[in-house]
Amino acid sequence: MPTLKIGSLTLDNQLLLAPMFKVTDPAFRLLCREQGAALTFTEMTHSEAILRNPRVAAQASHTTPSDHPFGIQVSSAQPDRLIQTIQLLEEKADLFDINLGCPSDRTRESGIGSALLDHPDRVEALIHAMRKATQKPITAKIRLPSRPQDALDIAKRIENAGADGLTVHARTVLQGHSGPVDLDLVAKVKETLSIPVINNGGVWNQETYEYVLHTTHCDGVMLARSAIGNPGIFAQVQGKPGISPVDGLVRYLDHCETYGFLHVGRIKTNCLHFLSAIPKTKKADFSKAKTITELKALAAEVKANQTN
Ligand SMILES: Cc1cc2nc3c(=O)[nH]c(=O)nc-3n(C[C@H](O)[C@H](O)[C@H](O)COP(=O)(O)O)c2cc1C
Repeated sequence: MPTLKIGSLTLDNQLLLAPMFKVTDPAFRLLCREQGAALTFTEMTHSEAILRNPRVAAQASHTTPSDHPFGIQVSSAQPDRLIQTIQLLEEKADLFDINLGCPSDRTRESGIGSALLDHPDRVEALIHAMRKATQKPITAKIRLPSRPQDALDIAKRIENAGADGLTVHARTVLQGHSGPVDLDLVAKVKETLSIPVINNGGVWNQETYEYVLHTTHCDGVMLARSAIGNPGIFAQVQGKPGISPVDGLVRYLDHCETYGFLHVGRIKTNCLHFLSAIPKTKKADFSKAKTITELKALAAEVKANQTN
């Protein structure tokens, strides 16, 4: 598989794990990397939360020795606050990404995420700020604006302002997470830019992965929902057997313990994702668990039942 160069980083392959709130914790990222993801991302964290609360800053940059390269995704509408955030975390990450695509009402009302796409000058200022703050690679993740020409304009502005790469979620803000992906428009964005363009959306298996690459000619492909509860997708799209959900569950919990990711509420959320793909398991027992030790014992039971 071809490598992918984003600024000074050379990735082993073209596969990226998307930022996902309450999913892409350090243990899950490591699992996806073991299965073939070459670059992983933290969930989006608002720069104000990082700057005001040291606990949030620590959580946003928590990683494991093998989870490199990884990117921290931040959101902000204020260039000066973005600079401070990146400078605070500079040593912690290998790359910084800005979220310009989150469609949620709460995010948009705060003037961040996809709301920024309506303000191209502000987007330019934010990318300039990121460039000023760090020598490390910087990227942006956008959605498709409703007018196709706007997609090309905003992409070009992001490139000209100094970004090293661009991820395009091939759906509009109004589409949310469902609906068809506009791969032809992503192909036009790819054709317009000189920096690497990464397609996001529309990949569920090896066939759709190859179709997306073939249609968009993108330099990389970022997977989100197909990886939830199924990190093996990163192997599967390459035609290899991926880790099974039950083995994924057991290994995920091992990683949580080994690397000190001990947020039980969040861990349970990921456990339930794995369990969705495992028939006849008692999700309620996992929901009731209070410690990682209890969760590990339950996962061992699930594994034993599968093999009996
Ligand atoms: C549970 C969940 C959480 C997400 N959180 C983020 C986030 O923090 N930052 C972001 O840029 N996108 C986020 N997204 C969007 C995904 O990164 C991705 O753009 C979207 O799911 C489309 O890709 P897919 O078709 O492969 O799922 C999230 C999506 C889901 C399902």
